[in-house]
Amino acid sequence: MTETLFTDISQLATPASGLQRGAAMRGLSVTENAALLVRDGVIAWTGQAADAPQAEQTISLGGRAVVPGLVDPHTHAVWAGDRLADWDAKLSGATYEEILARGGGIRSTMRATAAATVDELVALARPRLAALRCSGATTIEVKSGYGLDPEAELRMLRAVRELRREFDLSPTLLIHVPPETGRAEYVQEVCRHLIPQAAEMGLANAVDVFTEKEAFTVEETRALLEAAQSTGLHTKLHADQFHAIGGTELACELGALSVDHLEASGPEQIAALAASDTVATILPGVTLHLGLPAAPGRKLIDAGAAVAIGTDLNPGSSPLFSTQFALALGVRLCGLTPAEALTACTVNAAAALGLTDRGSLSKGQRADFCVLEGADWREVAYVLGGNVVAEVWCGGVRATA
Ligand code: NIG
Ligand code: FE
Repeated sequence: MTETLFTDISQLATPASGLQRGAAMRGLSVTENAALLVRDGVIAWTGQAADAPQAEQTISLGGRAVVPGLVDPHTHAVWAGDRLADWDAKLSGATYEEILARGGGIRSTMRATAAATVDELVALARPRLAALRCSGATTIEVKSGYGLDPEAELRMLRAVRELRREFDLSPTLLIHVPPETGRAEYVQEVCRHLIPQAAEMGLANAVDVFTEKEAFTVEETRALLEAAQSTGLHTKLHADQFHAIGGTELACELGALSVDHLEASGPEQIAALAASDTVATILPGVTLHLGLPAAPGRKLIDAGAAVAIGTDLNPGSSPLFSTQFALALGVRLCGLTPAEALTACTVNAAAALGLTDRGSLSKGQRADFCVLEGADWREVAYVLGGNVVAEVWCGGVRATA
């Protein structure tokens, strides 16, 4: 048994454990002059330093604030090539959808990624994941989705499996872009072979589908999600990014873990999410990078939905390498309060991955936490661009220098 008491914590700020919806997202607990006892990687006690129990080992955190480790519930951190030419085109007036329709955009990343080996993909993704961790992310979801064919998808997931030796990752099989011809056969192949293979080999925890006018239809999405559920995998969706075509409603009906994007969601989609246990994951980096409308984070919470925030780290729509920055953008662009944004990036983001053992600094939870540079927890939502996270601890072990 190893036991460590972390002391000299100016503020210990945390949501309660479990999914928080609506007004409960603001119910942060902030303990001043706190201490935190970790036993075998799990939180054994938290409270005021004056009441702290004795422990084998004591570590002073020097009067700084502590928040839960951030959970990044949506990234495409494995890719090859770059999208700088697309970005130039976008800056000259082409839209994201036009670039995609002319074979650029996601398709150019798919060509480069499909040509890369597992080792190359691992080497490319490692510094991206390290950057997210330095920004406070202790658990990171990583999607496939840039493979041109099932073999390339599995290669991406094998790269994620390699990286799990170094990072706490939740892998997702993303069915991203339909082939230009033979899409019915492709959907059938994915349902019959790729999804069961990924499940059997333990390469994915969830299946995600890009449901959009330029991607998969609602009917195709239903077949894909049902195939995922029949293999016991969780489901998620990219929906309402450009058009609300019914993906959100379908995800809520099927009990998906989360629906992500939601920039084009209107009152019906907000109501569907508020009436469900499906997490509404918003991705403000996309709003910043593409200059498109923001997801209605404020309205979702006011309606009673559970909101999470992710970076959506990817080369096309969100080259955002900081989970803390995504949290801060959730406040600026989506109208969340700092407390709501912290909840969105911790317990709710964990719930969006089907994880209930992390995200809150409370007894029985994994000892994943961030020590901030300063004494006030609100800096995690305030600072733009500087790193306010001084130390990252995963399972009670220091994960960053
Ligand atoms: O989450 N919307 C679709 N997929 C990604 C973008 C991927 C890309 O452009 O490479 C997203 O925004
Ligand atoms: Fe995405």
